[in-house]
Amino acid sequence: MLGVERLTTRYGSITAIREVSLRVGAGEVVGLIGPNGAGKTTLLATVAGLLDPAAGRVELDGREVTGASPDRMLRRGVALVPERRRLFADLTVQENLLVAGITATGGERRERLGEVVELFPVLGQKWGAQAGYLSGGEAQQLAIARALMSNPRLILMDEPTLGLAPVLVDVVFELIGRLREQGRTLLVVEQNARRLLRAADRAYVLRTGSIVAEGAGDELLARPGLFEAYVGVGAGGEVPGA
Ligand SMILES: Nc1ncnc2c1ncn2[C@@H]1O[C@H](COP(=O)(O)OP(=O)(O)O)[C@@H](O)[C@H]1O
Ligand SMILES: [Mg+2]
Repeated sequence: MLGVERLTTRYGSITAIREVSLRVGAGEVVGLIGPNGAGKTTLLATVAGLLDPAAGRVELDGREVTGASPDRMLRRGVALVPERRRLFADLTVQENLLVAGITATGGERRERLGEVVELFPVLGQKWGAQAGYLSGGEAQQLAIARALMSNPRLILMDEPTLGLAPVLVDVVFELIGRLREQGRTLLVVEQNARRLLRAADRAYVLRTGSIVAEGAGDELLARPGLFEAYVGVGAGGEVPGA
């Protein structure tokens, strides 16, 4: 479904990702792990159309979409759940969802609001509350729910469990499992590297802007020295700051 070929993205003179290539097949859950500053967010943001690459290609279903706007990527079925949420703090839960569903028709929006409330009952309870007053876990659920409002085929998730209490980390991983059962395709960045490797079909390890390892989740888990060498301390499943 998604093909990334030799993608390079820079911030001025800083090269954040260098000639990164990866593939995500339809229905796969693919993990992306690596230490802070490795370029994970940059890679997702470039695929989602938020950053323009300096070189390389992004393909969706075999068609080139390099440099397409975020809006166009959304219409083509690619939604990003950004790092640290990014909600409209002054808008209510319902308004945040409606804004996110802007590409859908009225009927579709109503249908998706229903689906989202079924998936995240807590959002139904907080329907009229301003997003700025939600707890961390509620806000994360709203961020994921916003992505679902466009009925994406490919969901890019950037550290969805960051700062969440362990019980909510479980909720997010359960949700990843349910989205996979719905046949959605996911590319997920996670601090909980071991946990993500157990949940993912395959994963890539990014370090200082380059892919240094790839393989099936269980194969990477079994690879001696991988965590110490590339992922760093904190990859064992504990959430720093949670
Ligand atoms: N807006 C920015 N301006 C300049 N440098 C940036 C910016 N965002 C990220 N970087 C740099 O790009 C590199 C990759 O960052 P990032 O993609 O956020 O990594 P990760 O998500 O893996 O922690 C880092 O060296 C970071 O300092
Ligand atoms: Mg990041």
